[in-house]
Amino acid sequence: MLDIAFAKISAPTSGVLAIPLAEGAELSATAQAIDKSLAGALKRAMDAAKFTGKKGATANILAPGGFSRILLLGLGKELASRAAEELGGALQAALSKEPEVSFLADSLTPALAAHVALGARLRGYRFDKYRTTQKDDEKPKLAALKILTPEPDAAAGAYAPLAAIAEGIELTRNLVTEPANILYPEEFASRCEPLRKLGLKVEIFDKKDLEKLGFGSLLAVGQGSARDSYMVVMQWLGAGGPEKEDGKRRKPKNPVCFIGKGVCFDTGGISIKPAAGMEDMKWDMAGAGTVTGLMAALAGRKAKVDAIGLIGLVENMPSGTAMRPGDVIKSYSGQTIEVLNTDAEGRLVLADVLFYAQKRFAPKYMVNLATLTGAIIVGLGHENAGLFSNSDELSEKLLAAGKATGESLWRMPLAALGESYDKSINSDIADMKNIGGGRAGGSITAAQFLQRFVNGKPWAHLDIAGMAWTSKDSPTIPKGASAYGVRLLDRFVADNCES
Ligand code: BES
Ligand code: MN
Ligand code: ZN
Repeated sequence: MLDIAFAKISAPTSGVLAIPLAEGAELSATAQAIDKSLAGALKRAMDAAKFTGKKGATANILAPGGFSRILLLGLGKELASRAAEELGGALQAALSKEPEVSFLADSLTPALAAHVALGARLRGYRFDKYRTTQKDDEKPKLAALKILTPEPDAAAGAYAPLAAIAEGIELTRNLVTEPANILYPEEFASRCEPLRKLGLKVEIFDKKDLEKLGFGSLLAVGQGSARDSYMVVMQWLGAGGPEKEDGKRRKPKNPVCFIGKGVCFDTGGISIKPAAGMEDMKWDMAGAGTVTGLMAALAGRKAKVDAIGLIGLVENMPSGTAMRPGDVIKSYSGQTIEVLNTDAEGRLVLADVLFYAQKRFAPKYMVNLATLTGAIIVGLGHENAGLFSNSDELSEKLLAAGKATGESLWRMPLAALGESYDKSINSDIADMKNIGGGRAGGSITAAQFLQRFVNGKPWAHLDIAGMAWTSKDSPTIPKGASAYGVRLLDRFVADNCES
């Protein structure tokens, strides 16, 4: 993890110095002083490189004075917080092999300096625990980024809640990146336990508990695996009010519930997937990973909200005990399901967890995240997650949070119960089947299925199959697990749910 240190402006003389400059702006006072100490080398280099501060433009000056390098960074006309994060990310990527980097933030507000730090930290994420033979010169050298500012306390104050979000994102990325031989349902559940230190109440439901509750749908998915199924419920009660009622811990009041699909590996089951690319199905638990990281972020920044995270953890395997196509199972809601394709398993997991969430918590909103369908990738590519919702109000709020954070959503159709899309999952022998007629509209049928388990509560389903994993670097996301959804939903909470 990249450490961030905010320090009072002093004239640094060693390592790499990064100097941001808005388009057409004068050098800041500190930058002017440095230029003077270098006998005008900075300004000469800017002229020679025709550097005027255009967005994304850079100019390098090698070995001036005691520095190993000065890097000028163009900010463009206006720097918003998202652009500041991207700048920080680009800075980290460009300088990761440098042992000592200072960023001169005297022309930035403390809040913007904090966003630069966040961007650098997010881009600096690495998952190296299984590398044993990496050579020293292949490893990053940048362990700490020093941000020089006239107001280090204010910048550190602005960074504190962002660091909590970064910790949540790092947790999500770690969970999603772990291979399935390490992160099976029980191990995932035990990685939620340390979140108690943040003030979360963490309840772990094992297979026996789920059998007692009657989670026939979730358990059917896990029954072919040598690994037991679990559910974890994480409660963050930050809305305020009395700590205790009748001597007991306060109960959440109309909380917002986040529900995650946690299929630790999805082989498809008896309806087995083709071999090519099946390794991707280690990240079929990204919905659950995102909910877990989100709960850590909300608790870490002490969000003034009652929020509940619920994750269904299973492994979908073919075996002598696996569910078969044609099996009829009974969900926790009481509704029966004819399983026509064992690879449409995520909806079976979510069905029970969604119904449980609405029944136990009477939520104000429910939002579930799931790598639910390949069809959403066909439809939306890797630019947007699919948003399906029975509430226009909730949809608008989520779309706005998507715009603000750059974690985009695109609203997709959802029909009311009994209307045509919904009718396509009626079964001949049970209350419903787990797939529609053919491949057409596959993401919509999946959403229609989920809707039958939300009991009319305001709910949104985010199909993140195209967003959970990236094959190329972007400014604040190194390739791999993106943790898509943590920032989106943190922002949704901040803007709409906090008292
Ligand atoms: N986990 C997959 C969806 C998926 C595919 C996620 C690719 C990420 C990348 C899901 O469980 C699944 O297998 N869905 C099937 C549904 C079909 C059988 C109706 C699919 O999309 O093919
Ligand atoms: Mn599947
Ligand atoms: Zn799946």
